[in-house]
Amino acid sequence: MLPIRRDLRFTLPAERIGDWHGRGPLVTQFVNTLSVFFPVGERFFIQSVRHYREQIRDPELQKAVTAFIGQEAMHGREHEDYNDLMQAAGMPAAELEDQVRRLLERIKAVAPPSTQLAITIALEHYTALLADWVLSVDSVTRDGEPNYISLWRWHSLEETEHKAVAYDVWQTVMKGKPRAYAERAAVQLVATSLFMLLVAIYTVRMSRANPKARGLAQWRELASFLIGRDGFLRRSFRPWLDYFKPGFHPWQHDNRHFLAEIDGFVREHDRLAAAA
Ligand SMILES: [Fe+2]
Ligand SMILES: [Fe+2]
Repeated sequence: MLPIRRDLRFTLPAERIGDWHGRGPLVTQFVNTLSVFFPVGERFFIQSVRHYREQIRDPELQKAVTAFIGQEAMHGREHEDYNDLMQAAGMPAAELEDQVRRLLERIKAVAPPSTQLAITIALEHYTALLADWVLSVDSVTRDGEPNYISLWRWHSLEETEHKAVAYDVWQTVMKGKPRAYAERAAVQLVATSLFMLLVAIYTVRMSRANPKARGLAQWRELASFLIGRDGFLRRSFRPWLDYFKPGFHPWQHDNRHFLAEIDGFVREHDRLAAAA
């Protein structure tokens, strides 16, 4: 499963930043909140994997690491532009991004490289679950502004494509180390708690910045989006738990059939880009 770096650009209409999602302004703000984490988070992922690059002897994994770094860099670039649109619309994207940046800087200052890589594989597991949800559940991306949807589908396809790369690096460099399982599992628990707390606080902040995203009906819609029948939290809880199996590997959740969609997706992206 060798990922490929694709230099795609997305033209997101600025006037739709607050209501591009088909399920309304608060669901839009929730998804926008996730974008706040990506540029700084993905830079952290890149650095944590790059630290171990020299220790990798398998040429296939070396190539996959290069592609992983390339993909995350492209995602970061596009989410940077996305976050600028939020900021220009009066949403506190820069402030929240700065908080995440400072948190990650503090972690880098105190945590050893293996813990930093454990954070990366924990959050890559999360990203893989989010990506699988975006690609599997029709209602997540069915309605809405096509360029925004296209960006999220691209990110989801590539997250699926590279979901095991950081994990394979982890397995390579932690082989035979007795603390590997405990470190990976403990870091997942802390990372999940912290990530969910920050997403909740930031979603509230983002909802306040968009008058259309307020009110009970909006919160009900978001609750159904997350914990309803096909909601992310309900759907992803079990696969999230699988991470705690000692023999876990990301491709045990075999969703490689989505990768067959990538070429068609790129053609559709180019058509959309030409029309923009
Ligand atoms: Fe990414
Ligand atoms: Fe990723």
